[in-house]
Amino acid sequence: MLSDNEILEESRRNFELNIEENEMLDFHKIFGNKNPVHIEIGSGRGEFLIKVALQNPEINFIGIDLKEKRVKTIFRKLYKDKLKNVRIAKIYLDEESIKFIQLNSIDKIYLQHPDPWPKKRHFHRRIIQPEFIDIMHKMLISGGIVDIATDHEDYAFWIVEHFLERKDFTSIYKKGFTREQEKGHIETYFEKTKRAEGFEPYFMKYRSI
Ligand SMILES: C[S@@+](CC[C@H](N)C(=O)[O-])C[C@H]1O[C@@H](n2cnc3c(N)ncnc32)[C@H](O)[C@@H]1O
Repeated sequence: MLSDNEILEESRRNFELNIEENEMLDFHKIFGNKNPVHIEIGSGRGEFLIKVALQNPEINFIGIDLKEKRVKTIFRKLYKDKLKNVRIAKIYLDEESIKFIQLNSIDKIYLQHPDPWPKKRHFHRRIIQPEFIDIMHKMLISGGIVDIATDHEDYAFWIVEHFLERKDFTSIYKKGFTREQEKGHIETYFEKTKRAEGFEPYFMKYRSI
């Protein structure tokens, strides 16, 4: 039986995306096919990433998280599932570091319960900012989707306001959000925890024009 270190090593060999400075990723080379690519920013423990990848083998998925502990958890899960259509990058994503992704190359970006940074003095740390939306728009193909969920009401309204004022995105949901989960909805670790505390999520989907 392999030790935890050996499992992590093997999983990293198969699933890790090591991004060099100024590198531009070649998805065709990485996945060995020309399937659409979806990105999840802030994958946490990876339950969403792994389920959505299992359900959609014809789509390539890139999961991103800044925390070593979180990506290790995902590597351990991937070792068991051996998913060919998933890669993981440990990276702090912002409007600079995201530039390893080619323009107009992504079909969908998921942000499942991004950190809400509830204090006003920390609002600048929220990942949803005009500059970050600009970058997401550049990475997405025309018609590409940003799919966001948050249980944090103030952050939900922040996100809605930021997207509704844009001419280069249109909301799939009237009012800019819905409280109703879609059929086949995948609940993340964080969503489950927050629901148990009484916080029901807001769901948002914006299409790039
Ligand atoms: C609140 S947790 C949600 C995790 C998971 N999506 C869920 O719903 O259970 C936010 C996650 O995003 C990651 N994260 C926050 N900011 C990030 C950034 N700029 N780049 C990459 N990961 C980030 C954190 O490390 C954390 O795992």
